[in-house]
Amino acid sequence: MRIASIGGGPSGLYFSILAKKLFPKAQITVYERNKPDDTFGFGVVFSDATMENFAQADRETHQAITGSFAHWDDIDICFKDKTLKSTGHGFSGMSRQVMLNILQDRCAQLGVDLRFQTEVKDLEQFNDYDLVLAADGVNSVVREKYAAQFGPHLDFRPNRFVWLGTDYEFPAFTFIFKENEHGLWRVHGYRYMAGYSTFILECTAETFKRSGLKVEDEEATVAYVQELFNDDIKGHKILKNRSLWRQFPIITCDKWHYRNAVLMGDAVHTAHFSIGSGTKLAMEDSIALAEAVKRSPDDIPAALAAYEAARRPIVESTQRAARTSLEWFEQTERYYDHLEPIQFGFSLLTRSLRISHSNLKLRDPKYVATIDSWFAGQAANQSGVNIPADPPPPPMFTPFRLRDMVLANRIVMSPMCQYSAKDGTINDWHLVHIGSRAVGGAGLVMTEMTDISEEARITPGCAGIYQKEHVAAWQRVVRFVHENSYAKIGMQLAHAGRKGSTKLAWQGVDRPLDSGNWPIIAASPLPYLEGVSQIPREMTRQDMDKVRDDFVRSATMAEEAGFDVIELHLAHGYLLASFISPLTNHRKDDYGGSLENRMRFPLEILDAVRRVWPKHKPMSARISATDWAEGGVDAEESVRIAAMLKAHDLDIVDVSTGQTVAYEKPVFGRLFQTPYADRIRLEVGMPTMTVGAVSSYEDVNSILAAGRADLCVLARAHLYDPYWTRHAAYEQGYPLPWPDPYASLVRYTPRHK
Ligand SMILES: Cc1cc2nc3c(=O)[nH]c(=O)nc-3n(C[C@H](O)[C@H](O)[C@H](O)COP(=O)(O)OP(=O)(O)OC[C@H]3O[C@@H](n4cnc5c(N)ncnc54)[C@H](O)[C@@H]3O)c2cc1C
Ligand SMILES: Cc1cc2nc3c(=O)[nH]c(=O)nc-3n(C[C@H](O)[C@H](O)[C@H](O)COP(=O)(O)O)c2cc1C
Repeated sequence: MRIASIGGGPSGLYFSILAKKLFPKAQITVYERNKPDDTFGFGVVFSDATMENFAQADRETHQAITGSFAHWDDIDICFKDKTLKSTGHGFSGMSRQVMLNILQDRCAQLGVDLRFQTEVKDLEQFNDYDLVLAADGVNSVVREKYAAQFGPHLDFRPNRFVWLGTDYEFPAFTFIFKENEHGLWRVHGYRYMAGYSTFILECTAETFKRSGLKVEDEEATVAYVQELFNDDIKGHKILKNRSLWRQFPIITCDKWHYRNAVLMGDAVHTAHFSIGSGTKLAMEDSIALAEAVKRSPDDIPAALAAYEAARRPIVESTQRAARTSLEWFEQTERYYDHLEPIQFGFSLLTRSLRISHSNLKLRDPKYVATIDSWFAGQAANQSGVNIPADPPPPPMFTPFRLRDMVLANRIVMSPMCQYSAKDGTINDWHLVHIGSRAVGGAGLVMTEMTDISEEARITPGCAGIYQKEHVAAWQRVVRFVHENSYAKIGMQLAHAGRKGSTKLAWQGVDRPLDSGNWPIIAASPLPYLEGVSQIPREMTRQDMDKVRDDFVRSATMAEEAGFDVIELHLAHGYLLASFISPLTNHRKDDYGGSLENRMRFPLEILDAVRRVWPKHKPMSARISATDWAEGGVDAEESVRIAAMLKAHDLDIVDVSTGQTVAYEKPVFGRLFQTPYADRIRLEVGMPTMTVGAVSSYEDVNSILAAGRADLCVLARAHLYDPYWTRHAAYEQGYPLPWPDPYASLVRYTPRHK
C-alpha cells in the first residue's frame, strides 16, 4: 500500500503513525514544506476527555504527549478588576512544537518517510498511490485546486485575532476582558510548558481599526499588547512568532474525498480556538480514517465514504458548538456592558451550550451555588416574593413578575393550535389540554392562537373569542386553572391574514379548504403558497378599522373570561406579521416601506388593546425575530421592532422566528431561537421569553442564569409530557407542591424502568 500525506501537521503525522501500525509494509511518505522545527504559534490545549481517545489509538504517542503536559483545572475570568475562578474543568496545554516533534519521532521510529522542506502543488504525482491525505491545513492548496470536487465554504468572521506568547505562566486557563480607549479586548491565555503561556488576543474589527495597529506590524502589536496587559502578566514579556492579525475562517466542505484523496483536519473543517478543538478534531480524524481503512483496505474509495459518513456528524456537532462560542466572542461587548460579573462569568462558561447549569454543578458546585443564590436574590427583588436562601431554588423555580401578575416559576406552555373547536367554541379537549399542563406545574399556560373573528381563523377548527358563547367556554378553562393550580393563564390573540381559510393541520397544513373557503385579507395581495393559496385582498383603511375593533372586542372578552395576560400574535406570517415583514408587505402607503411604516398598524392594535386591557395586567407579543430569508426581518431589525413595542408599553416579547414565507431557510438546532431573545433582552432592556427546541431543565436553568431570557416557553415538550415541570422538579430534588387530591405522591418514587 502506498500512502502520501500532503502536510506534516497533527492530522497527517498522526494518521501516518496509525496506518503504519496497521500496515507495517505500507510505504508512507509525509511531505511537509517547513523544517521539522519550524512552527507557527505557541501552545495547543486539550480537554481530559480528548486524551482518552488518544490513549486507545496509540499508547506510545499518548505517553509522550501527556509527559509534556501542563495540566490545570481552573478557569480564571478577569473582568472589570475582578477575577472569578471556576474549577473542575480539566485541561492540558502543551507546546505545538513539542507535540509535532513527538509525532515526527514516532513516525520515524515506525518507518514513515518524512520529507521536510518539500512543497506539493497538486495531486497528479500521486495518481498511482492508494491513498493521498490532503492534510495541508487551513489554507489547503488541494482543497482550493479541487474546489469543484470538494465544494468548500469559507466564512471569514469579522473579529480580528493574533496568536502571541508570553514568558508569564498563567496559573489557570485565563480569559481577560479589558477595555481601553479603542474598545474591548479579549485574551485567551494558558500555560503550555514551564515558563511559557499562549496569549491569543481578539477584538472586533472596529476596535482593531481604532487601535491603528497594522496586520503585519508585529513589533507595534507586541509593544501595544505589552503596555496594555503589563500588569496582567506581572511585567513579563509578550513574545511573537509570525504573529499576524487574522480573521478566523469557518471552513466546511460539501464533500471530503475525491478519488484516492481525502481532506483532513483544518483543510476540511475548522473550529474556533475558543473551544480549543482544532488539534483534537484533526487527530480524531486520523483515528477515524485509520479505522475505516482497516475495515476495507482493498477498497479505498469505500473506506473514504465510510470515514466521511461516520465522522461528519461528530465534526458538525463540534463546529456548531464552536460557532456558538465564536459568536459569544463576537458579541462580548453586549455581555460586558449589561451583565454583572457573576452572570457574565456564567454566560461565558456556558456559551457553547456544551457546559450547562447541571454539568457545571458537577464540575464546580460552589460556582453554581453562588450563581443560584445571586439569581434567587435578583428574582426576589424583581417579584417582591420571599425566596428561601439556603438552598436557593434552581433558577427555573424562581418567581417572575409582570405588572401585578406573579408567576410561580419560569416555565410557560407555548400556544399550540388544537384545531378542535367548533365555530370558534372550544370544548372539553381544550379544558383537558390546558388544565393538565397547569396541574403539571408550568407557571404560565397559554391558549392556542385564538382568533378575533370568524374570518380571522386559520381553519374551521380554530378557537375564537368573538361571541358570547366563546367567553363562557373560556371562563370554564380559566376557572379550572385558577381553582386547581398556581398557574396563570394567558390568551394569544390573532388574525390569520393570508394564512387563513385552510385545512386542519392533519388534513394539509396551509392548503385551502376543498369547499367553503372564506375571503382572506393581508398587508399585500401575495399568496402564501404560490399557485396554491388563495390570493388575499390588500387591506383598506376600513378593513384596518374593523380588525382593530375586533381585537379590542376580543381583548375585552378575554378580560371578562378572567385571563391574566394577553399576547398579540405578531409572528409566523399571520395578519399583523404580514405588515411587519418587507417580504409580505409591498404597500406604497403609510403602512409600507420603512420599519416605522410597517409597524404602524401592529402598534395601532397594541395601543388600542392596551387601552381596554386592565392596567394591572401585562401584555406580551410574539414576534418572528428573523424571516430566515433574504431581504426579510433579521436579528438587527428585530431589536428595533422590540424597542418600538416597548415604547408602546408592551411588557415582554415572546421571541420566535420564521414561518413568514414558504421559501424560508431556517437553521434548526437546540435552542436555535434563544440568541434572538438574548440580544433583544440586553440591547432593548426588556424581558423576553425564549421558545424553540428548549426541552431540558438543564437548558432552562442555563438560559435563565446566563440572562439569555426571563421565561422559557416549551411547546412540543409539553404535548409529550403535560407534567414536564413536575418531572424537572423531581429530577432536581425540588419539592414542588402537589394539588391536595394528589398529596399522597409526596412520598412516592416514580420508576420508568
Ligand atoms: C490562534 C489559534 C489557536 C489555536 N489553539 C488551539 C488549541 O488550543 N487547541 C487545539 O487543539 N487547536 C488549536 N488551534 C488549531 C490547530 O492549530 C489546528 O486545528 C491544527 O493544527 C490542525 O492540524 P492540521 O494537521 O489539520 O493542520 P496544520 O497543523 O495546519 O498542518 C498543516 C501542515 O501542512 C503543511 N503544508 C501546507 N501546505 C503544504 C503543501 N502544499 N505542501 C507541503 N506541506 C504543506 C503546513 O506547513 C503545516 O505544517 C489553534 C489555531 C489557531 C489559529
Ligand atoms: C401543534 C402545534 C401548534 C402550534 N400552534 C401555535 C399557535 O397557535 N401559536 C403560536 O404562536 N405558535 C404555535 N406553534 C408553535 C409553538 O408555539 C412553538 O413556537 C414551536 O413549536 C417551537 O417550540 P418547541 O420546540 O418547544 O416545540 C405550534 C406548535 C405546535 C407543535
